[in-house]
Amino acid sequence: MVMGRHGPRDLLAGLDAGALGSGTRMEGGAMKAVVYEDVRTVGVHDVEDATVEADSDALVRVSSSALCGSDLHMYDGRTGAIPGLVLGHEPLGVVEHVGPAVETVTPGMRVVVPTHLYCGTCHMCARGLSASCLRARPEGLGAAYGYAGMGPYRGALAELLRVPWADANCIRVPGEPGDEHEDDFVLLADAFVTGWHATTLADVRPGDTVAVFGAGPVGLLAAYSALLRGAREVYCVDGIDARLDKVGELGATPVDFRRGDPVEQIRGLRARAGFPLGQEKLSGVDKVIDAVGFQARDRDLTDRERPDQVVSDAARLVNPAGAVGIAGVYPQLDLDPRPGATQDGQLSVPWGTFFGKGVTVRFGRTHDRRYTTSLRDLIVTGRATPGMVVTHHGRLEDVPRLYRHLDRRDNGVVKAVVSP
Ligand SMILES: NC(=O)c1ccc[n+]([C@@H]2O[C@H](COP(=O)([O-])OP(=O)(O)OC[C@H]3O[C@@H](n4cnc5c(N)ncnc54)[C@H](O)[C@@H]3O)[C@@H](O)[C@H]2O)c1
Ligand SMILES: [Zn+2]
Ligand SMILES: [Zn+2]
Repeated sequence: MVMGRHGPRDLLAGLDAGALGSGTRMEGGAMKAVVYEDVRTVGVHDVEDATVEADSDALVRVSSSALCGSDLHMYDGRTGAIPGLVLGHEPLGVVEHVGPAVETVTPGMRVVVPTHLYCGTCHMCARGLSASCLRARPEGLGAAYGYAGMGPYRGALAELLRVPWADANCIRVPGEPGDEHEDDFVLLADAFVTGWHATTLADVRPGDTVAVFGAGPVGLLAAYSALLRGAREVYCVDGIDARLDKVGELGATPVDFRRGDPVEQIRGLRARAGFPLGQEKLSGVDKVIDAVGFQARDRDLTDRERPDQVVSDAARLVNPAGAVGIAGVYPQLDLDPRPGATQDGQLSVPWGTFFGKGVTVRFGRTHDRRYTTSLRDLIVTGRATPGMVVTHHGRLEDVPRLYRHLDRRDNGVVKAVVSP
């Protein structure tokens, strides 16, 4: 049961689980949704139906909605989620209604909806920089569904989703709900696009050597994207068996940090394979991707977080004149910062190493508008099957249990997708 609190209307709209009882459908009024209640507590409640609110909105009936490692930053009480927030930002579904100003989207269309919603027409959106949309969130740049600090938009772990600026945010996909591409297409909402974005941040080119830290869905799909882009060697570091197994399935080389320093392991693997003539000094990798973020495990004390662990490993491993792409989240507000970090996101970084090597470092949320349709077409033509990373399916009622497993990274859960 959610406590009565005051918050943005859209977040708390009609939330009264006690009165309605879980699973009850109110005529024209209530839908089931996954709601953040408190630290490590989420529930399935009846909330007011999502509706078309603005003329440019669409209402989407969700067929699949994925859980994400990003949700865990809120789940763990780190990034200030308000109780009552409807969670979820990775939806695939079918358009049910559209507002009178929507021109290209019609009821019945199967669509994937990118996490980071955007207006589609502002200065940044016009340049494909939709994660920095100037209009989606009055108090900042860019926005997301069901996410603390990312605007008033309710989440997608629900039966229905209101999609603002529908012409820009409803990405059409072929086929029918539940067909062979359901898991592939749902990953276009965030994980595949973010994995690809990470390879863009790191400027991965044909022939590169690449190391990805983190073999969660984002890291796995960054490794997969690096292979699609023609990298010659791709290593992916983690400390969880189920995830390391997936690395191998995707065609990359798993590196288990429980067996020792991953930087030395990767240098050792490269040396054993033999360096190209005259390139012995390039014993690291050309491109490094951080798909872990601020909740990185300390490799020496794995029950603890060390927020600078991956950045310092990346600085050691990257080759001279290489690049580092940071897609793992480093929040501007961390309610419970760990040693080495501050509440406002300051972190000590080995600047000297980066400068000495002449390394380029890029950060940030994915610019969905740039990549979603191209990656969709790789799926449709059979060149990409990102759905390989999905390990668990369920219903909305299973989400509290699935978040528990995801948070402990146990039970073999890598990516979970539920169908409302
Ligand atoms: N930039 C974006 O637009 C964007 C979008 C989605 C997710 N993200 C972020 O990307 C990150 C990964 O997301 P995910 O869904 O894959 O999360 P996840 O939590 O499932 O995966 C993180 C993985 O990192 C591993 N890990 C922890 N410490 C490590 C270390 N020191 N070295 C190597 N691996 C380590 C964990 O074992 C885990 O498997 C999160 O921070 C998430 O918030 C960013
Ligand atoms: Zn996500
Ligand atoms: Zn915009």
